[in-house]
Amino acid sequence: MGNRVCEVLGIEKPVIQGPMAWCAFAPLVAAVSNAGGFGVLGVASAPNELVREQIHKTRELTDKPFGVNVFMIPPLVEAVLPVLIEERPAAVYADILFDLDPELCKVFFTPLKAAGIKVIVKASTLKDAMVAEEAGADLVIAKGWEGGGHVTPEATMALLPQVTQALSIPVVGSGGIADGRGMAAAIALGADGIEMGTRFLCSEECPIHQNAKDAILAQQDNQSVIILSSIMEPCRQIPNAFSDELLALEANNPVKDVEGILREKFGPCLKNGMHDGDTEGGSVMSGMIAPLVTEIKPAAEIIDTVIAECKEVIARSNSFEF
Ligand SMILES: Cc1cc2nc3c(=O)[nH]c(=O)nc-3n(C[C@H](O)[C@H](O)[C@H](O)COP(=O)(O)O)c2cc1C
Repeated sequence: MGNRVCEVLGIEKPVIQGPMAWCAFAPLVAAVSNAGGFGVLGVASAPNELVREQIHKTRELTDKPFGVNVFMIPPLVEAVLPVLIEERPAAVYADILFDLDPELCKVFFTPLKAAGIKVIVKASTLKDAMVAEEAGADLVIAKGWEGGGHVTPEATMALLPQVTQALSIPVVGSGGIADGRGMAAAIALGADGIEMGTRFLCSEECPIHQNAKDAILAQQDNQSVIILSSIMEPCRQIPNAFSDELLALEANNPVKDVEGILREKFGPCLKNGMHDGDTEGGSVMSGMIAPLVTEIKPAAEIIDTVIAECKEVIARSNSFEF
């Protein structure tokens, strides 16, 4: 019997590249898929024209399967549905922070599945993972709070075994995985594969600004901070002038007075930080695992090294003395 993630997605290696807005565009997605993993376009909440353009660009670079990210929030999902049905990517990767809506899942998943498109759901709670399976998802990604970008309070170590125990469909572990030891740990917790985001930011093909890559490589310890907890949209990034400003606004004002301004300031922060390279005025998001990312490598080498290390760790664990 083969690996279940590979079987569902039609890929060779059970490694998914997490979608990342303003980062996971065609060059990275195609590189991951060409290497036998599964690339996912970080185009959730992007205008339909950009979604279509990125799908076409990715297809120019690879004939392998890849996915497209969508936020499970109305009216975003309804707006992008016609483009997805027309373009038929191998999978749609649905993402929500908390409280996946079972009704919205049914409305959205049914036409996708009828069009032969697989449905991946990223869940950060056991409840959301169960809702996803019940609604017909083909694969669930259980993501813990160690990860970069938006996070919830549950850790991968605790969340992943609960999800793998409860679900029948394949489960992928995510959040805090950047090497073969992390992959082996995820497998030990019952996962069928892994997702990495932060590690792929420092790949040769990731089209972010060199300043952002350098900021991630410079992380010596887990120095990340979480902004926007006050408005229930916690988001992990490297501390800088931007996060200082937002955290001060959150600490010193009633939420209702600053909610609007927080959202307004957050809007362009990924573009400013990751794309334009303003590492103080914008946001450089990466996960707790950033200190383990010490080199920029081709995506294919990242995937193959992680799998080779994972095999070594598993073989070594056979001689573990209890
Ligand atoms: C810069 C950045 C942007 C992200 N943007 C998105 C996004 O648009 N949609 C999404 O589903 N996840 C997003 N994520 C989360 C990743 O897809 C992935 O789940 C996470 O990075 C995994 O944890 P890791 O960073 O420890 O590998 C983002 C993560 C980072 C670091």
